Amino acid sequence: MNIGIFDSGIGGLSVLHHALKIIPHANFIYYADRKNVPYGEKSVFEIQTFIDEIMNFFISKKVDALVIACNTASSVATKEYRDKFPFPIIGMEPAVKKAVETYTEKQQRILVAATPITIQGNKLRQLLNRVDKYHQADLIALPKLVHFAELKQFDSLEVEEYIKTALNQYCAVDYSAIVLGCTHFNYFKPSFQRIFSKKTQFIDGNEGTIKQLLRKAPLIESYSQSVQFYFSGIPATTKELNEIKTYLSRLEEVYYL
Ligand code: DGL
Repeated sequence: MNIGIFDSGIGGLSVLHHALKIIPHANFIYYADRKNVPYGEKSVFEIQTFIDEIMNFFISKKVDALVIACNTASSVATKEYRDKFPFPIIGMEPAVKKAVETYTEKQQRILVAATPITIQGNKLRQLLNRVDKYHQADLIALPKLVHFAELKQFDSLEVEEYIKTALNQYCAVDYSAIVLGCTHFNYFKPSFQRIFSKKTQFIDGNEGTIKQLLRKAPLIESYSQSVQFYFSGIPATTKELNEIKTYLSRLEEVYYL
């Protein structure tokens, strides 16, 4: 079984990382659109053009299912995309539903962090109207974290200062949970932890996305597990593969803090 996973960059590796644990027998094809990252500060039209090119790539790779491991791309990919392609397409959205189902008291606050496109998008507004009955969620756009992640700058003072400044109208210790509504933000759990209360929990959409993949995709077993990496359609070089290893090991570290 061939499973395509794409993101604007290295954020979606956190989704791949989870998928590798849950689906041991599949061939994964990971596409990072490094040429066009970051998506979150571009126009909807531009992002849709990038997605069109990526879809053509995955058609040529004959995937059986595709995961859009990017909340930003998912927020602008319309239903028409799903109907146009012969394989299931699984998108991502900030895991607000999971957060309000976990923190059910009206006074429990939830911070939804994502890119500007996701924060301003209709999809998130509709999701909040549907699930955030007690208005527990506050929204914050943190586009610079995508730049920091692509530069492998995770723990610097600059990162911490940036998060603190962006948060200045909110009181960090009030939050029961942070919804990581951008896959790039998974790399910053230690930085968030230094700013928020020790009790603040992280909620991301990775588990839900892979569950959805298993529900939607026909599970054609492969003999073993393999992953191929592409950067904007070009196979990753040895140097890039080493970079990917650094990112994946970082995820290991933060997942088991
Ligand atoms: N990783 C992407 C997401 O989940 C977006 C990053 C970007 O701005 O390109 O939203």
